[in-house]
Amino acid sequence: MARKIIAALADSSLFLREWLANPQRTGAVAPSSPMLASAMARWLPRDPESFVLELGPGTGAVTAALLKRGLCEDRLVAIENNPVLAKHLRKRFPLARIITGDAWHLDTLLAGLPHPVKSVGAVISSLPLLNFPPAEAEALAAKIRSVLEPRGRWVQYSYHISQDRSRGADDFRLVASKIIWWNIPPARVHVFQK
Ligand SMILES: C[S@@+](CC[C@H](N)C(=O)[O-])C[C@H]1O[C@@H](n2cnc3c(N)ncnc32)[C@H](O)[C@@H]1O
Repeated sequence: MARKIIAALADSSLFLREWLANPQRTGAVAPSSPMLASAMARWLPRDPESFVLELGPGTGAVTAALLKRGLCEDRLVAIENNPVLAKHLRKRFPLARIITGDAWHLDTLLAGLPHPVKSVGAVISSLPLLNFPPAEAEALAAKIRSVLEPRGRWVQYSYHISQDRSRGADDFRLVASKIIWWNIPPARVHVFQK
């Protein structure tokens, strides 16, 4: 228990340092709460063999919830563009494929893996999409769509809790939307299906 608390405090201070270095890119002052992380993780693909692609994993709050929910670590691919955070994730999740890179290049990054990943059952994204222009969000959504298996899901959270759609999600069907109050700040989880 004490070890868990110390690890959580270390993650929070690492996150805060990275936010101070680049608030726009980091998008939050603290890692997601366990409630927000578990609300994201409940949308794992039904097929345990399917890959899950996580975008913007940060210090791994949502990643840990995905594994706790039953995802095999070797089925997880994560793209994080902050090299300090990516290094931290590689230590924390040694069997996952942690890519240091830009989520907007997800297609080429997945194809360029030693064992290329052609499609994924779910995309779990913590990217601060509202910090990006609408055209960029739409371009990312099109790439997410192209990599998702049929009926695959894109799970995205946002701190703009009054919005009932996510940027770029017009070509998806909204299957769930829930506000998680127990987070700093409160967030809304959107689930879109291809
Ligand atoms: C709001 S934080 C979420 C971190 C973590 N998933 C959580 O919920 O605690 C957003 C993360 O997205 C990363 N990020 C921002 N732009 C990115 C990009 N273009 N490609 C990949 N990661 C990006 C940031 O470095 C940061 O770690």
